[in-house]
Amino acid sequence: MAEPRSLGVPAAGLVLLVGASGSGKSTFAARHFAPTEVVSSDTCRALVADDAEDQSATPDAFDLLQHLVGIRLRRGLLTVVDATNVQSDARAQLVSLARSHDLLVDAIVLKVPARVAVERHRASGRTFGRVPVERIVERHDRDLRRSLRGLRREGFRRVHVLDGVEEVDAATIVRERSWNDRRELTGPFDIVGDVHGCASELRTLLERLGWRLERDDAGRAVGAHHPEGRTAVFVGDLVDRGPDTPGVLRLVSGMVAAGTALCVTGNHEDKLVRARSGAAG
Ligand code: CTP
Ligand code: MG
Repeated sequence: MAEPRSLGVPAAGLVLLVGASGSGKSTFAARHFAPTEVVSSDTCRALVADDAEDQSATPDAFDLLQHLVGIRLRRGLLTVVDATNVQSDARAQLVSLARSHDLLVDAIVLKVPARVAVERHRASGRTFGRVPVERIVERHDRDLRRSLRGLRREGFRRVHVLDGVEEVDAATIVRERSWNDRRELTGPFDIVGDVHGCASELRTLLERLGWRLERDDAGRAVGAHHPEGRTAVFVGDLVDRGPDTPGVLRLVSGMVAAGTALCVTGNHEDKLVRARSGAAG
């Protein structure tokens, strides 16, 4: 038996299954994901042609597949594409769809020997019209091998390659929330932007909002908490312009470290990081 391997996928994002016909994509999808999370090219083909094997319906089926995937991603739902995805242009369209929704996309490659895939099709009695199963599987297998070399440079966050039937069977899935997915936080929030080095004004503002400042032995404000459990959200541009950028950073860093504040960077922080790393401008 292969070692059980847990594959991390984005809890909200896109997962492409990649593998020849008969490699076990639909079986894998049914085992690890809810039926509604899986968008399958066969199902789309059936919906537009009343026949999951009608290859002439492929362009329409992929239109529908992309449409469905796009709607699910817009709604922030984990979506798994069950299609061969062995051709780079098919993958590229889905990668750019995920990007356009600012979501991550992973690939799970099911690399199963062609003879196993063919045997499985024989056992299940599945046909592809007049084209012999061997021809279909061989073509997919060739496309997959060609794809594997450059796959990691196609924009996937991760490419999980399951090499052989045992690795496919032993894999488990872990859904990973991204670090900026904080939807469990419900506030109340105090949202503060553009402090721009004005440490004194920031302290005054926080105190007026009911925050209690915490000071170090030298009397410098190094943290703050709110008796009603409010959370401050700093939405960018702490630095530059005003007289006391270090004072602002000291206070806000203390609040973030203590969990009483969240902070995202603004363009002025980006500029500071660039300057400190030696970049011009
Ligand atoms: N199968 C199997 N053992 C596995 C996985 C799959 O016997 N570990 C069988 C399935 O029951 C099915 C056939 O192999 O009859 C093909 O598996 P499927 O998951 O349907 O493969 P797909 O990759 O989804 O093939 P396609 O691209 O043609 O949809
Ligand atoms: Mg399938």
